[in-house]
Amino acid sequence: MCLKTACLLLTYFAISASSYSVSSHRSKAALNTALKSTTQHFYGYGDPDHVKSTLQNITEEREASTPPASSHPDPVLLEKLSDIRSRLGPPLNLYDQIMSQSPAMALAAEFKRASPSKGQIALSEISCGAQASSYFTAGASIISVLTEPNHFKGSLSDMLSARSETQSLASKLNLPRPCILRKDFITSRHMILEAASHGADTVLLIVAVTPSDVLKELIEYSRELGMEPLVEIHADEELDVALKGGAKVIGVNNRNLHTFKMDMTTTTKFAERVGEDICLCSLSGMSSADDVERYRGDGVRMVLIGESLMRSRSPELAIKSLGLDPRVEREEEGRGGAYNGGLKVVKVCGVCEEEDAVNACREGANMIGVIFAESKRKCSRENAKKVVQSVRKFGERSDREDLRNGITRGIKRPLVVGVFQNEKVSVINEIVQDVGIDVVQLHGDEGEGCIPEISVPCIRVVSVPESDERSVEERGGEILEKVTERPLAYLLDTKVGGREGGTGVTFDHDIVQVVQSGGVPVIVAGGLSEGNVREVARAGCFGVDVSSGVEKEVGKKDDAKIKKFVDEAWRGGEEGMQGI
Ligand SMILES: *[C@@H]1O[C@H](CO)[C@@H](O)[C@H](O)[C@H]1NC(C)=O
Repeated sequence: MCLKTACLLLTYFAISASSYSVSSHRSKAALNTALKSTTQHFYGYGDPDHVKSTLQNITEEREASTPPASSHPDPVLLEKLSDIRSRLGPPLNLYDQIMSQSPAMALAAEFKRASPSKGQIALSEISCGAQASSYFTAGASIISVLTEPNHFKGSLSDMLSARSETQSLASKLNLPRPCILRKDFITSRHMILEAASHGADTVLLIVAVTPSDVLKELIEYSRELGMEPLVEIHADEELDVALKGGAKVIGVNNRNLHTFKMDMTTTTKFAERVGEDICLCSLSGMSSADDVERYRGDGVRMVLIGESLMRSRSPELAIKSLGLDPRVEREEEGRGGAYNGGLKVVKVCGVCEEEDAVNACREGANMIGVIFAESKRKCSRENAKKVVQSVRKFGERSDREDLRNGITRGIKRPLVVGVFQNEKVSVINEIVQDVGIDVVQLHGDEGEGCIPEISVPCIRVVSVPESDERSVEERGGEILEKVTERPLAYLLDTKVGGREGGTGVTFDHDIVQVVQSGGVPVIVAGGLSEGNVREVARAGCFGVDVSSGVEKEVGKKDDAKIKKFVDEAWRGGEEGMQGI
């Protein structure tokens, strides 16, 4: 029986490699057969007890739903292809598109309604064409569209609308249009033809689920249709398979698609192994400007950002905060130099309920303050943990050391800030660890001496010196003199000591400017509301902080006010950067 099966399989594969459709290489049987040379890089290869991963299952499901093997391309698709090419023109070459962005990092922004690891991501009524257009205006040069229907809730018509809407917008704006990528579990020529005939410029091919001979065939077929494919790898041995197949654009998935485990060093490891002629991309996990910056240094030429953009109410701002808008020149930020990077933080403080945290993050706040000090808004540990859990759903975490070094370049994934006042360092560290806090805010007169002992970066609260005869330079200088440990930022509280400060907005920014010129980013707090935050943000502070200004009642936030506040803040920040 064994011999016969092997024989049949061998004959089958011999035929399939050269025929129009390739088929079930991914079945359990194939994983354990003699096709070592083409499938030994498969997860679970040769293991009779292997339980197929989600990736393997989805790919198999996808393969089963494509038309039965046939030696001829579907005439309907060919017709569609010729129609779309005559209407919309030829496809863009992915390699050239990425290289043309250099020295800026090319951004691929992804449209994804849902995913197996995160479930529903976007509202079902969201329009792919509109979302793709906003990615494009924000600076994305590649738009990736998930077209898998069952687990990602995507479709070919999503992709087609991305192509036609971005193309017409680009021609209106007289700009080069973005390149459209079909992201799916492509197993056959049929799916590649399908992609081309629905407006794709390129397709994703996943090495982990593609036998090496088939990969080569699919790469070649893509090129026959004028498309340079993006070839995805994760495991070490997959690079060789991709290179042997002739891949020129190689995307590294930092996530192991079988286990969903994320390892941000994956891309870096491959960067050392590929030559200059390969266009190396990084495909997952980037959620801060730090991540992007590190990859830039590694020679990565394109990053793909998906979920964090889908979750963001303003993809434009999200892209900017990642340092990825190719039209904005990146400013150098030596730690010792003046801070002039503009608004990077919108902090909603005094949050104690999960729902408020989720609303604030969804509206675009990127710091959520939870108070552990005695206060009307003091939060229990139990609630704080719930807040942390819900905030973490907005993007992957990177490690804390990165945060310390790169926060002024912008943060995308929201952080939880724990507010303490005259608390023992040991207690602070214990709570940080237990609750999962990202940043500590020191509100008391504990000074800065304790900062190096606290296990996460710190924000130091200082009060604005009384307005008196002295110049703002002198008063700002007084604050700077006390800087000993370089906290992440100073939170200038204009309300300290019961004084109402926030109304004297002009008075604030002069001091803010002085302190920031001294190299310490400033978060402005006290008396901010939707009515004045735009002006404050426009003046160039690093952050704004609000608590009572967005409350319904003490300790309970008002979603509409949060939305208004956050929108106004980011708008002001953007105007500030444009010099409005
Ligand atoms: C994949 O499907 C098989 C059944 O065909 C199932 O036993 C296995 O648990 C699935 N894998 C995952 C990760 O769900």
